[in-house]
Amino acid sequence: MRRLFLLFALLFTACAGDEVDPCVDAPTYESGVRDVLDDKCVDCHHTSKMGIDRNGAPDTLNFDDFETLQDDVVAIADAITSGKMPPRGTPDAPPGTSAAQRDTVTEWRRCGFPED
Ligand code: HEC
Repeated sequence: MRRLFLLFALLFTACAGDEVDPCVDAPTYESGVRDVLDDKCVDCHHTSKMGIDRNGAPDTLNFDDFETLQDDVVAIADAITSGKMPPRGTPDAPPGTSAAQRDTVTEWRRCGFPED
């Protein structure tokens, strides 16, 4: 009986060790999200943009780097996955995000908004 218990204990440990982290290959800010923001957002949401060049984007909402956007990760993810941003019909707005770009952001959020 004791031997059987040991066998199960060993099996369990082996399986637990083999578990694959579902976020191991997930996109990070550095490995994908920054490209999305650079492609679709920083024409308006960047500290180098002033006044009329911001196209109405709030002055405090900037995506220069990972530090700058820390307080806004949830709002950013919502705006992208809902398709609200980039805004449609604004003259300087780039075309909307691709499905792949939205998936990148969804996975980034699911895995806790990692930097790299
Ligand atoms: C053409 C300029 C422009 C681009 C490009 C743009 N935005 Fe915006 N953004 C705005 C304006 C204008 C507002 C304020 C009006 C509003 O909230 O709709 C805004 C507001 C926001 C807000 C705050 C309101 C909310 O919905 O929570 C977030 C977050 C945001 N943008 C994220 C993004 C992201 C992420 C991208 C890139 C995918 C992006 N924006 C691209 C102009 C832009």
